[in-house]
Amino acid sequence: MKRIIAGLSLFVASARAGTVLWSGIFNSSATVANFDKWSWSNQIPPYQWYIHGSGPTSEYLALSPSYKNPADTSDAQGIKITIDGTAFWNGQTMERSEIIPQASASLGTGHLYYHFSLMTSTTNPPNPGFEHQIAFFESHFTEIKYGLISGEAGTTDNLLRWDVGGVTQWSTQLKAGNWYNFAYDIDFSGGTIGLWASSGSAPLTQVVAGVKGSPSTNSADWHIGQLRLPNGGTNAAPEDWYWSGIFVEQAPITTSIAGPQPGAGGGGGGGGTPTTTPAPPKTTTTTPPKSTTKPPTTSSAPPTSASSKPVTTSSTAPGPTQTHYGQCGGNGWTGPTVCASPYTCTVVSGPYYSQCL
Ligand SMILES: *[C@@H]1O[C@H](CO)[C@@H](O)[C@H](O)[C@H]1NC(C)=O
Repeated sequence: MKRIIAGLSLFVASARAGTVLWSGIFNSSATVANFDKWSWSNQIPPYQWYIHGSGPTSEYLALSPSYKNPADTSDAQGIKITIDGTAFWNGQTMERSEIIPQASASLGTGHLYYHFSLMTSTTNPPNPGFEHQIAFFESHFTEIKYGLISGEAGTTDNLLRWDVGGVTQWSTQLKAGNWYNFAYDIDFSGGTIGLWASSGSAPLTQVVAGVKGSPSTNSADWHIGQLRLPNGGTNAAPEDWYWSGIFVEQAPITTSIAGPQPGAGGGGGGGGTPTTTPAPPKTTTTTPPKSTTKPPTTSSAPPTSASSKPVTTSSTAPGPTQTHYGQCGGNGWTGPTVCASPYTCTVVSGPYYSQCL
């Protein structure tokens, strides 16, 4: 009887949680080498990986059970994302290391929660003299930022802030070693964005109710990672940010930091996971990348001045349109295929990738 009740309450708890539309949760088999298997001609979930510098992937990404929020028992590992003096992508002057959902579901309709947890350390801490754009969408309708914002007075700013359309709605002093848990509360139909947040193992609570904004995404432009603006200077010192609990769900929200599949990650913090022999990593040689794998050379450069000016989507076209540099076609593409005026959808990489240019 007791067991039945326990089972029932478990069922009720899981039935109450939202449906996960895309999961970036890392199980114990996840490896950094998997990121390199993704390409424009081999768009495998869960992550796109093309916005990074010229070094090997292992210079910018690392997975470990010690890189996740210990209260998150869905992830077996967290990811360390690094930017450094080589992290220039595509000839840009910004340091960038970003992973992006490779999703099959639409991540831009209805009422969704975009979840992630963040931590920094006293080792390779972020430089407060530079503007960092974190967990942002290409149109920058909402994002986390850190550091001295472009145009801000002074030389450093230790604020971790949450913006809607370039206007800060919530902020806190960034403390090394503290896990910050967030969920963007995005009502794509109602045009509002709110924030749920907590620290450490505390469940998420709503810290800002939905504010009016212009939420939109092509389901492949949520940039999880760091973009650091040069702010007129340079500093090649590496910066590490730790991430876990990354997933997108439909309302209602999962507030527990244990995540969408509590216990799946194997024992909250790493102890006691039975070591079953992991499947041998697939040899990369079996899937040679097609010769057309080069990423589009001009794709998705966010405007350098995105920080200050909210993107204006004033004239609302019927149906979603893609923004400048956004993807508008290619094999398996399910996002918008119409470009915002005056851009046209242009084939950039054979059948694999078309872009609004
Ligand atoms: C681990 O995660 C990957 C990527 O999400 C998935 O393809 C794989 O099947 C998972 N492995 C196990 C053992 O669950």
